[in-house]
Amino acid sequence: MYETLLVEIENNICTITINRPDKLNAINKTVMEELGKAVDEVYRNNEIKSAIITGSGVKAFVAGADISEFQGLTKEQGSALAQKGHDVFFKIEHSPKPIVAAVNGFALGGGCELALACHFIIASDNAKFGQPEVNLGLIPGYGGTQRLVQIVGKNRAMELILTGRMVSVQEAQQYGIVNEVIAPRDLLARVKEVLEVINAKGPVAVANAIGCINHFDHTKAGYDYEVQQFGDCFATEDMKEGAAAFLEKRKPVFIGK
Ligand code: COA
Repeated sequence: MYETLLVEIENNICTITINRPDKLNAINKTVMEELGKAVDEVYRNNEIKSAIITGSGVKAFVAGADISEFQGLTKEQGSALAQKGHDVFFKIEHSPKPIVAAVNGFALGGGCELALACHFIIASDNAKFGQPEVNLGLIPGYGGTQRLVQIVGKNRAMELILTGRMVSVQEAQQYGIVNEVIAPRDLLARVKEVLEVINAKGPVAVANAIGCINHFDHTKAGYDYEVQQFGDCFATEDMKEGAAAFLEKRKPVFIGK
């Protein structure tokens, strides 16, 4: 049914696995499209009470948006790319059924933003988090500038986004990004155990609690601003250089234009 996802339902829990392990599960257009459809199914299917989003393989949850799709995009196409990601990740964040990220390795860029859009995060002890977009002459474009601030606070978000540095799972837990750290082999079983506790509660109460928590201090303006700023990066030489350098496996040379 899906080209880039594995989706299974067991004990009322829907497990959505992003399945491009050779590209560290990078989110290309197909992944984003299919993720949107899989989340629609979580909303619609009465058999599903909650969901897990995870990545295929032992190395990565999701290593970001697919950089190979960035080349040649105009400013407007950059904004459209961000808007599509915003729409899907908003749907995850505002799902009336809990959606938990089981982070099993690298969660970078769009992967970190995907995990942040989930209702909470349980991670394996080899997980790593980061928003490395500045290395590409870019900024986070799937809600990262807004959601990371809400979780870690303004100053820490500034430091993480401006340096682009990767943090260990222990550091991520210290900042409140990760709720619990588990050995890789036990990760999915532990997330299912937590979801079974929630699934035993009243679904309306669960949905209403999610809605209320999500209502805390959310403004659309910041997200809209990010869409525009992300698109603006695509009009720069530095972004073209950053993406080309990554794909050519060399260091970028930025000129500030
Ligand atoms: N987009 C497209 N392809 C990606 C990718 C991404 N975000 N992240 C990894 N890949 C691809 C690599 O190009 C490589 O493909 P290839 O085998 O065809 O050359 C494959 O996945 C394996 O990645 P590789 O870089 O060889 O693994 P590594 O263990 O040496 O490094 C990372 C792992 C995560 C540190 C490194 O892949 C990386 O920095 N990825 C990009 C992270 C990023 O900038 N994300 C934000 C994007 S906006």
